Amino acid sequence: MPLNLAVPLLIGATLFAICGAEDPYRFFSWNVTYGDIYPLGVRQQGILINGQFPGPDIHSVTNDNLIINVFNSLTEPFLISWNGIQQRRNSYEDGVYGTTCPIPPGKNLTYILQVKDQIGSFYYFPSLAFHKAAGGFGGIRILSRPRIPVPFPDPSGDYTVLIGDWYNKDHKVLRTILDRGRKLPNPDGILINGRSSNGFSLNVEQGKTYRLRISNVGLQNSLNFRIQGHKMKLVEVEGTHTLQTTLSSLDVHVGQSYSVLVTADQAPQDYYIVASSRFTSKILTTTGVLHYANSNKRVSGPIPGGPTIQVDWSLNQARSIRTNLTASGPRPNPQGSYHYGMINTTRTIRLSSSAGQVNGKQRYAINSVSFVPADTPLKIADFFKISGVYRTGSISYQPTGGGIYLDTSVMQVDYRTFVEFVFENPENIIQSYHLDGYQFFVVGMDGGKWTPASRNLYNLRDGVARSTIQVYPKSWSAIYVPLDNVGMWNLRSEFWARQYLGQQFYLRVYTSSTSMRDEYPIPKNALLCGRAAGRRTRPL
Ligand SMILES: *[C@@H]1O[C@H](CO)[C@@H](O)[C@H](O)[C@H]1NC(C)=O
Ligand SMILES: *[C@@H]1O[C@H](CO)[C@@H](O)[C@H](O)[C@H]1NC(C)=O
Ligand SMILES: *[C@@H]1O[C@H](CO)[C@@H](O)[C@H](O)[C@H]1NC(C)=O
Ligand SMILES: *[C@@H]1O[C@H](CO)[C@@H](O)[C@H](O)[C@H]1NC(C)=O
Repeated sequence: MPLNLAVPLLIGATLFAICGAEDPYRFFSWNVTYGDIYPLGVRQQGILINGQFPGPDIHSVTNDNLIINVFNSLTEPFLISWNGIQQRRNSYEDGVYGTTCPIPPGKNLTYILQVKDQIGSFYYFPSLAFHKAAGGFGGIRILSRPRIPVPFPDPSGDYTVLIGDWYNKDHKVLRTILDRGRKLPNPDGILINGRSSNGFSLNVEQGKTYRLRISNVGLQNSLNFRIQGHKMKLVEVEGTHTLQTTLSSLDVHVGQSYSVLVTADQAPQDYYIVASSRFTSKILTTTGVLHYANSNKRVSGPIPGGPTIQVDWSLNQARSIRTNLTASGPRPNPQGSYHYGMINTTRTIRLSSSAGQVNGKQRYAINSVSFVPADTPLKIADFFKISGVYRTGSISYQPTGGGIYLDTSVMQVDYRTFVEFVFENPENIIQSYHLDGYQFFVVGMDGGKWTPASRNLYNLRDGVARSTIQVYPKSWSAIYVPLDNVGMWNLRSEFWARQYLGQQFYLRVYTSSTSMRDEYPIPKNALLCGRAAGRRTRPL
C-alpha cells in the first residue's frame, strides 16, 4: 500500500514519534531496482531509484522530517546513506553497516531523518557492496526557512549537478577484483548527472542567475569543474555560506559538495560545461552544455582547459574558501557567532593512511588498522549490550608506524569534548575523508609533515564548517570537531576502493547518560540482524 499523505499525524504518533513532531513531514517512497544504463555508450547494469539514474533529488527545508521508505528490489542486501546529513542524536538512521542492518532483498526500511538545523547541498549514495559504482545516488538540498535571510538573491533556477568518475565495468566485476585483493584499474570516464559527451544540458536565459549544487559522487578522482566563457561565484560549501568569491574553475574532491552562482551574461549561444580529472597522469574529461534560450550556435571548438597538475593551485583555492561570518546559516544568527578558534581543544587525534598487503591481498588502513565489518552493526550491538562484536581501543589515537593489520576499528571519544583531528597523508595520491554526524571546522592544510608548530598556520577565525576534507599528496589537513552528537559515526576515505578495503573506522562518541536529550533510542522499525536478529526494539 502506498503511504497515504493524509495520515501523517497518525503515523507521527506511532513510528515517527521521535522526530520533531511540530516540524513538517515529507514522505518519499523509493523502489531500488537494477536497470540497463549506457552512461559511456556501453550497456551496463545500473542501480535505479524509481526508475531513475541518478536517483531523484530530495528537496527539503531546515528541520523537515524526511520519511523515506526504501524498497530493495535488488538481489542483494542494500543500504542508502546520507552524506552530510547530521542525524542528530540518531546514528541508527545513518545507513552505513556500522549503524544500520542492511535491507534484505525484497524487503523495505523506512528511514526517519530530520534535517535539524541544517541548510545546504548534500547527496545520498548506496553504502554497501560497491553499489556506488552502479548509481543509486542523488542530490539532497536543504533550503533556508522562509524568514531566514540568505546572503544572495533568489536564483532563477536551482540545479543539482552530480559529477563523478565512472567505470564501464559492472559494479559486481569491480567488487570481485577488490575481493580478490587486487587494485582497480583507472576509471574509464567522467559523468555529469549520469551523462557523458554533451548528454547533460542546462537551459538558461540571458541575464538570469542560476545556482548549481555540484557534488562529486564519483569513486576516486578529484574533478575540476568549469563553464566556457563564464565565471562562477562560490556561495556555499556543505552547509556553510562562504565569502562569495569569483572563480574560473573549481576543484571538487571526491565526496564534496559546493554551490556556485552562474550568471548567463554572454552572447546567446551554447557553451561547454566541463568536468575533468585532477592529478591523474591521463586526464579524463567530459562535457555538458550550457544552453541559452534562443541560442544561435552549438558548442564547438576546443574544450577550455583546466588548471595545471600542480597541487599549489588547488591548495590555494582551498585555503581561499572562507565562511561569511555575518551571513546566516540555518538560524538567523550570524555564522561567526560560534567562535571555534577561542575554544581550547581537549585532545589531538592524528590519523595517517597507508596501503599494503595483508595475507597477499591489497588493503588500506588508518593508523595501521584496516577495517573489517563485524557480524552485527556496532551501534545495534551497543544498544543490546552484545559484547564481543568490537572493542574500543582497537585503533590508536596516533599513527603507530607499524604494519597493516585487520580489525573492527572503533575509536572512543567523549561527548562534549572539542577535538583537533590531523589527517596526515604520507602517500603520493590525494585523499578525501568524510565524517558522518558532524560539520567540522577546517583550520588548516599544507604540504609536508604536520608538527605542533603547524598550528601557527591555522585559520582560527573563518574556516568553513563542512563534512568532507581533502588531504593533498604528502601533506596534512587539520580540523576542529565539537563532539556534540552522541552516536557511532563512520569516518571514511571517500576513495571508494580504499573505503571498501579498510580505510575507515567508527568514532564512538560516548556518554554514560541515557537521556533522550543526548541520544534517541533505537527506532521502533529498525531492522535487526547478526547477533541481534530476533530481538525486539521495544519491550513487549
Ligand atoms: C519495484 O519495481 C519492480 C520492477 O518494476 C516491480 O516489479 C516491483 O513491484 C516494484 N516494487 C515496489 C514496492 O513498488
Ligand atoms: C515497510 O513499508 C511499510 C509500508 O509499506 C511500512 O509500514 C513498514 O514500516 C516498512 N518497514 C520498515 C522496516 O520500515
Ligand atoms: C556576507 O553576507 C552578507 C549578509 O549578511 C552579505 O551582505 C555580504 O555580501 C556577504 N559578503 C560576501 C563577501 O560574500
Ligand atoms: C585555554 O587554555 C589557556 C592556557 O592553558 C588558558 O589560559 C585559557 O584560559 C583557556 N581558555 C578557555 C576559554 O578555557
